[in-house]
Amino acid sequence: MAHATSLGSHRHSSPPPQGSAAGGARSRAVVVAAAVTALGGLLFGYDTGVVSGALLFLQKDFGTLGAFQRELVTATLLIGAAVGALVAGRLADRIGRRMTVLITAAVFIVGVLGASLAPVFAFLVVTRFVIGLAVGSASMVVPMYIGEIAPPRYRGALVSFNQLAITSGILVSYLIDYGLASSQNWRLMFGLAAIPAALLFIGMLTQSESPQWLVAQDRTDEARAVLTRYRAADEVDDEMDALAHNVEQSQEEVGVRSLLAPKLRGLLWVGVLMAVFQQVTGINTVIYYAPTLLKTAGFGSSSALLANVVNGAVNVGMTIVAIKLLDRVGRRVLLLSGTAGMVVGMLVVALTFAIGGDHLHGGGAVVAIVGLLVYTGSFAIGLGPVFWLMISEIYPSKVRASAMSVATIANWLANFVVTISFLTLLSWISNAGTFFLFAGLTVVALLYFAVRVPETKGRQLGDVQARTPSAANAA
Ligand code: BGC
Repeated sequence: MAHATSLGSHRHSSPPPQGSAAGGARSRAVVVAAAVTALGGLLFGYDTGVVSGALLFLQKDFGTLGAFQRELVTATLLIGAAVGALVAGRLADRIGRRMTVLITAAVFIVGVLGASLAPVFAFLVVTRFVIGLAVGSASMVVPMYIGEIAPPRYRGALVSFNQLAITSGILVSYLIDYGLASSQNWRLMFGLAAIPAALLFIGMLTQSESPQWLVAQDRTDEARAVLTRYRAADEVDDEMDALAHNVEQSQEEVGVRSLLAPKLRGLLWVGVLMAVFQQVTGINTVIYYAPTLLKTAGFGSSSALLANVVNGAVNVGMTIVAIKLLDRVGRRVLLLSGTAGMVVGMLVVALTFAIGGDHLHGGGAVVAIVGLLVYTGSFAIGLGPVFWLMISEIYPSKVRASAMSVATIANWLANFVVTISFLTLLSWISNAGTFFLFAGLTVVALLYFAVRVPETKGRQLGDVQARTPSAANAA
């Protein structure tokens, strides 16, 4: 998995002359390229979120589904995503980032149309796996492509822009689920994703290949032509040098094995454990199953889906707040305060179920929803964006893509384990027991982050070593 990325090795940082028409056009070109590829993030969010509402109506065509069947249709996507992230890492190096995004968009289209036409339940499960391949691929290649075309000074904001696209995709899917609730049209819920997928395909046809990849292929003239679209004339030479330097460095790369070298092992653990904690603290039990949970707690389908929309809006709103704060207050403050907020939100939900039982009424129902909102908002301001940002920042450029692949795959696998067991867990240890368990795991995550996760704000990429945060801060 030897990827070449442009992150971290740019030696120039002076901004281009601002205010000129050409400068404006170049900035626009970068923003358009990032916005087009971020449609991949939107699809990641939409396709993972849409199932939450669709689950309520599948019985219309397939009869009553048991907990395991509902878990299956939700979670096969996640196995597909782990495979997709693995394959996309390799494809992006072999055939290029642009072509990988084009294939991803095509797979999205096939998958969502297949799901919307599924004649039998098993077919739906298979198409969810296919959609997952595309979701996993997008989760890996979109931040990679954006990172490689973005000027270094905007990179942090543009990488987190992908998390904004993910959360917006989730929110759009909730709105569609809510809008289609009265017709119970789960087929359209799945099928509508074909529109952004087609836009991604068409949009990507108009975009250029990553200059970093072109340099790695010895296609320097093309790389220079692409850079000229995105950078001021006086920046192009410097950046071409930086890209060539990066490629030289990557030649020394010996793949995943080099990640196990003692120097890097600590950082690899940080990425993998952050990935696992991002999932085992329960975010996707809320993102995928909140309507199911609220319905069994006594809500009607429509009000359960409406509460879900509010949750999705809080997720987007707090992600915007995080994007504004990340470069100002630093990653650790947001990560630690956000994770602490998640503990509080989860405890409120768990206590409400412990006191009120699994069926909530009136005040109890409102308190449980407030707890869920506090939990989601706290995730969105910390662990949500910070995980994806950290894994793009803490690794030296030589091993960055390999290490990002490993952390991304760990994220999808941990997501799968939680998603496939959640409904069963509810029936085994009750709602209260399940949420107390998540609250406990979130406390463990908080302690781990406090001790192990370094601050990366303002640091050179690739300059972070696996050390305790205090040592990292002192450096
Ligand atoms: C996570 C997803 C989650 C989403 C919710 C992302 O950072 O990786 O698993 O569904 O946030 O906003």
